[in-house]
Amino acid sequence: MDRIVVTGGRELNGTIPIAGAKNACLALMPATLLTDEPLTLSNAPRLADIDTMTLLLRALGAEVSRLDEGRVIAMSSHALSSHRAEYDIVRRMRASILVLGPLLAREGVAEVSLPGGCAIGARPVDLHLQALEAMGAEIDLVEGYVHARAPRGGLRGARIRFPFVSVGATENTLMAATLARGTTVIENAAREPEIVDLARCLTAMGARIEGAGTDTITVEGVDRLHGATHSVIIDRIELGTYMIAPAITGGTVRFPGARRDILGAFIDKLEEAGVAVDDIEGGLAVTRRGDRARAVEVVTAPYPGFPTDLQAQMMALLATADGVSTLEERIFENRFMHAPELMRMGAKIDVHGGTARVTGVERLKGAPVMATDLRASVSLILAGLGAEGETVVSRVYHLDRGYERLEEKLGACGAAIERIGE
Ligand code: UD1
Repeated sequence: MDRIVVTGGRELNGTIPIAGAKNACLALMPATLLTDEPLTLSNAPRLADIDTMTLLLRALGAEVSRLDEGRVIAMSSHALSSHRAEYDIVRRMRASILVLGPLLAREGVAEVSLPGGCAIGARPVDLHLQALEAMGAEIDLVEGYVHARAPRGGLRGARIRFPFVSVGATENTLMAATLARGTTVIENAAREPEIVDLARCLTAMGARIEGAGTDTITVEGVDRLHGATHSVIIDRIELGTYMIAPAITGGTVRFPGARRDILGAFIDKLEEAGVAVDDIEGGLAVTRRGDRARAVEVVTAPYPGFPTDLQAQMMALLATADGVSTLEERIFENRFMHAPELMRMGAKIDVHGGTARVTGVERLKGAPVMATDLRASVSLILAGLGAEGETVVSRVYHLDRGYERLEEKLGACGAAIERIGE
């Protein structure tokens, strides 16, 4: 298994290109199941999770071609051959559940294994199922699979109020509603930029959607959707991750195509921690002010709040900030697996329930550490960039689910980082 070796202490200077959003792409790809015409996505990221979704869609009978070195995904679902998403594929990635709504809407029937994914808490799919039931679906759980059947005449529009915000449940419901009979109103909907991107694509396919990006989305069902071409939105989590790198090491890194609005509270916190985020032509530039960042209090929340997917990376920054920081995780329980690994590098962290208290030290020391999930693994790389000596991160397959050419992107800015195979 590959490992990544980082030798810390180099300032970073340069430009980092940001790929299309993994999480947007994972919701956009299943949208192919809603139409028998071609759906083409450009600006797609080249990641293991996208390969997994490709496998899953092909297993359902969709044609999926990766063109332009994987940047373009051309799909067609004109002849679906299965409505069953097998455990063997679904267990690799929780986002597989996103085929449920589209399959049910188009085929009237779907069987989807309950998902696995990152080990960051229980992560049930009850909200997805309740929303589809409200649209008339009959749902049974049989031997680890969700068996869903639409009523005769197809799914019906419904008023659905989520008890709390779920990105995936909003996406599944939104896709299912495009082909339902009548009007669906989704209340307490997720407002993430990836939802807006999905709605844009569905609208280009002929869906009638209003309010995406607000907490109430209204969908007027149509009889059929047609093909479209759509460019995937920039990956705000990849962007936020790399914005933390110069904040840890010093130096200035530029991000072409970056936008403030997609990062919500994250940029405010970075600035509060003493990191300058400057608007440059067509993007943003990040520079640390002073020798060390300052301690801050962070609470994760749905968009536009501080993203849970940047909490681990922020902890890597705060581990060497001046003062005592707190990080409160409100989206997932058990999402501090990176804390003990950072402590092996000399970080001072106390975790009590959903809150981590981080007492900044002057400098971390390189150590062998182990990646436990996607964002935790990148936080260890970031910590290694600022640490004294060598950090060896093992189990980097987690990293490959969400970051393409990470070593190359950081290396081009002056980081001493390499991947070694075994
Ligand atoms: C998506 C992102 C993930 C991010 C998360 C929160 C994708 C592919 N993944 O995941 O990177 O960390 O949003 O921003 O887009 N929940 C339930 N029942 C449900 C659904 C969710 O209890 O039916 C809970 C989850 O366990 C979690 C919370 O709701 O505690 C939010 O989860 P959700 O927004 O659904 O996350 P995902 O869509 O899985």
